[in-house]
Order: sequence, then C-alpha cells, then structure tokens
Amino acid sequence: MTTSSKSNLVPRHIAIIMDGNGRWAEQRNRPRLFGHKAGVDSVREIVEACRELGVEYLTLYAFSTENWNRPQSEVSGLMLLLKTYLIGELKNMLSNDIRLRCLGQQERLPREVREVLQQTVESTASCQTMNLNLALSYGGRMELIHAIRQLAGKCVDGDLLPEEINEQVLSDHLYTAGQVDPDLVIRTGGECRLSNFLLWQASYAELYFTDLKWPEFKKEQLLEAIDVFNQRQRRFGKTGAQLDLGNQK
Ligand code: IPE
Ligand code: IPE
Ligand code: MG
Repeated sequence: MTTSSKSNLVPRHIAIIMDGNGRWAEQRNRPRLFGHKAGVDSVREIVEACRELGVEYLTLYAFSTENWNRPQSEVSGLMLLLKTYLIGELKNMLSNDIRLRCLGQQERLPREVREVLQQTVESTASCQTMNLNLALSYGGRMELIHAIRQLAGKCVDGDLLPEEINEQVLSDHLYTAGQVDPDLVIRTGGECRLSNFLLWQASYAELYFTDLKWPEFKKEQLLEAIDVFNQRQRRFGKTGAQLDLGNQK
C-alpha cells in the first residue's frame, strides 16, 4: 500500500493464517486430513487470485513450530500433502512467474520435503510477478531468536556495533529480509489470535478475522477481505485530521 487513506488499492503484501481445516472435516464426519486436502484447493485459488489482482507478496501460514506437537499421523499426512502440492505446482508457478520462498526452520522438515522445497525455490528464483512465501515450521519467536543470534554473532566478531542495530538491521535478518511488511493479515477459522505468526512484520498490518473455515475461503471471500481493508484508515500513529489534510494536497 502506498497510501494511508481509505482507497481501493490492492494490498502489496497479504499474509494468511489458513485455519479451520480440521474442524471443517470433522463437521463432515471425515478425517482431519480430508480438510487439509480441501484446504489445498483454497491455496490454489487464492494464489491465482492474488496473482491476478497484482498482489506482490502472498505469505501463507501452512505449518507452525507448534504444529510439530500434533499427532504423528497428522504431521506426516501434512508433510506428504505439502510435497505433493509442491511437485504438482511447479509448472504452474513457472508459467505464472511466481517465485516461491520458504519462511521457517527448513532443517526440521523431512529430507524429501526439504529437497522438493529447495528445488522449487531454486527453479522459481528468477520469477518476478508475484512472491509466494510458505511459512513452514515457522514461528515468529523462533524467527526473532534466529535473527538475534546472527546479530549477536556479528557483534562478537566485531562486524557490528550494538548501537548499529536498528529496525532495518533486524528486519534484514528475518526470513522476510528484503520484503515489504504485510498490509493485511487474514485469519480464517474463527479464532482471533496470531498464533506466533509474523510477530515483527505484522506490527502495523490490518487484521481481518472470519469465521469461515479455510476450505471455504475462495476468491470471493478474498475480495471481501480486501474491501474491508480498503474501508479502514491506516493512521500509523497520526490523527485522522492529519491524514485528511495530507490528501487535500
Ligand atoms: C489449519 O487448520 C492448518 C494447520 C494448522 C496445518 P487446522 O488443522 O488447525 O484446523 P482446526 O483449527 O483444527 O479446525
Ligand atoms: C495456526 O493454526 C497455524 C497455521 C494455520 C499453520 P493453529 O490451529 O495451529 O493455531 P492455534 O493452535 O489454534 O492457535
Ligand atoms: Mg487450527
């Protein structure tokens, strides 16, 4: 977003907490994995819609550091689904000029998932139309610890002075280095919490919560979220009057 006033612009960066797959399946008396599979259809549709709309960055929260604590069968089902998704989508990503990146502790992922992920990241590295971040084994607190460790190491080595650490320097050491912060964070599934998602980057994002479960969230629902976003006034600490004055210029 380049403006802080009410408008009809498309957010530059949309981040989504894709929640509610399990409950969606349970409501239908089906296993949780059935819900995760249905969730992949929403992923495909939302990625395509964001690309069409001209969203520059789309970040999807697919698996949190806390999700490792789920039953082993669900974790391995999710990992298999992820691998299948990546293999199946590569051609599509290339033809749609979508660059894939992974946010999170890749080293914790099973080797075969890591390999497919790395191949997809490398193959799409020169794509430019849209950036797709998959947050996998991601936790905002771990991300900050990871960055702080790197900064502390540089200080110990004499490559950085503590007083040189500022917001930009810290941002440059996060998984999202070089990317703009999310303008809009969407969470499906009815919960109103961040669940350790983009704790630093979302500090001024607009938050949008919907009771719809992730498999029910499609292009129409995305457009609704963007409409609501456009009705908000992003003040960034200023007063509404200051912004109205700025718009008259
Ligand atoms: C979100 O759906 C997907 C992941 C966390 C992997 P859930 O699996 O959390 O679904 P609910 O919240 O139990 O319905
Ligand atoms: C958040 O959903 C993580 C993802 C969507 C990947 P959870 O279902 O894990 O969140 P909590 O545990 O309800 O906060
Ligand atoms: Mg959940």
